[in-house]
Amino acid sequence: MVAQIIDGFAIAAELRRDIAVRAAEMKDKHGVVPGLAVVLVGDDPASGVYVRNKLKATAECGLRSFEHILPADTSEADLLALVGKLNADPAVHGILVQLPLPKQIDADKVLGLIDPDKDVDGFHPVNAGRLSIGLPGFVPCTPRGAQILIDRLLPSLAGKHAVVIGRSNIVGKPMAQLLLQKNATVTIAHSRTADLPDLCRTADVLVAAVGRPLMVKGDWVKPGAVVIDVGINRIEVDGKGKLVGDVDFASAAEVAGFITPVPKGVGPMTIACLMLNTLDSAARRIA
Ligand code: GUN
Repeated sequence: MVAQIIDGFAIAAELRRDIAVRAAEMKDKHGVVPGLAVVLVGDDPASGVYVRNKLKATAECGLRSFEHILPADTSEADLLALVGKLNADPAVHGILVQLPLPKQIDADKVLGLIDPDKDVDGFHPVNAGRLSIGLPGFVPCTPRGAQILIDRLLPSLAGKHAVVIGRSNIVGKPMAQLLLQKNATVTIAHSRTADLPDLCRTADVLVAAVGRPLMVKGDWVKPGAVVIDVGINRIEVDGKGKLVGDVDFASAAEVAGFITPVPKGVGPMTIACLMLNTLDSAARRIA
């Protein structure tokens, strides 16, 4: 293997320790404990795991959490009413409604009701707009975490080509905006892009966020490139479940300069950045 592995697990742990120190200072100086409300509707097992991990990180960072676990048949009106209450609660600095939501609930309507200044997921259209015109706001946690990893390796992206595979509102588009802010020349690729392997081979920074297991092969990677794998896919190998990314790690690591593993790459950074967004939200309220 040529590539150096980017240890997202260790970097996220470092970030959480830093957040814990800053949260303790905020409590001492201002008597404020950043509070995160986490709302889970229904019993999707993957969502349950994500929510538990988020609550665990909240406690570890010394933040307060407010847990709202609602039954799968919760009505849209009841969920909207809860979001309204959390918007009005001064102890709540961040609101996270775990997705996906059951089908009787219009997710856009719910996310659109969250106060943009408590929208620590960065999914509200106001925050998407702020990001696109360079105003301060909340940046979605996964691209924020990925950008922190990239910044540590390449503090300047001027003259570099970044290719983002995937155009989701949650990862691909905000990731491209962040890379653009760092002066990269950015291409967003997607399922209708022609000659994807050729395009990827021109990337100094390659971010894979498509949700297709092991799609990016070693011969798609420019020698020495920084490869960031956002995918988390569960596949069967020899009859056993295994988590893999969108990048075929074994072959890509033979070519890349730096690469994130799955698991323990971008995933832990996402959760740490949720804590960071919550801390930032409380800090903005004090300022
Ligand atoms: N479901 C999967 N990832 C996420 C996330 O980052 N935020 C929320 N709210 N739901 C999710």
